Amino acid sequence: MNFDESQTKTNLARAFAGECQAGARYQFIAQKAVQEGKKNIQMLFKTLAKNEMAHAKTFWDLIAKNTTEPQENIEIKAGYPFQDSELPEMIKFASNNEKSENTTIYPSFSKIAEDEGFKEIAEKFKLVALVENDHFMILDELYNKLKSKDLYKNPTDYNWKCGHCGHTHLGKQSFEICPLCNMDNGHVELTYLGRKKC
Ligand SMILES: [Fe+2]
Ligand SMILES: [Fe+2]
Repeated sequence: MNFDESQTKTNLARAFAGECQAGARYQFIAQKAVQEGKKNIQMLFKTLAKNEMAHAKTFWDLIAKNTTEPQENIEIKAGYPFQDSELPEMIKFASNNEKSENTTIYPSFSKIAEDEGFKEIAEKFKLVALVENDHFMILDELYNKLKSKDLYKNPTDYNWKCGHCGHTHLGKQSFEICPLCNMDNGHVELTYLGRKKC
């Protein structure tokens, strides 16, 4: 199948657009979080935004690598997910989008690429879907913990770390104010989110 006439080329362009949008939305959420004094949520979303831009670059490079004609514009039909509300609802919205990417959109793009004979591209869609599943797990847990107000609690002992000064505290609950630097728990690193508990 000629790449320039394939559905896969259009799907890569759609995926590129979707990733750029997610990257932008996550930077907006990061800004909102820091305005609300939640430095830890800001840092988390900055990392997620960086991941989405890396996915966008991967899709961009695959178009560049496979096309045989100079490309000036690739027409796509795509949605622009939009929600501007309170932070928890924006996090929930983000988690829903991650879920649909990893359970529906990318598996279907991967299958089409496979059927059209683009093995490498099919594999990349699968790899990105796995990351989106991780993103979903993180955001889903973050939303649930914000809602139930137990973001700084863990069922088992956990090494809570102040993202400002590096102080750590082992326990089921984080400090509210860091005993070393006096920063509040909005600085406590949230790296435990999304890890499969077994
Ligand atoms: Fe992504
Ligand atoms: Fe993602």
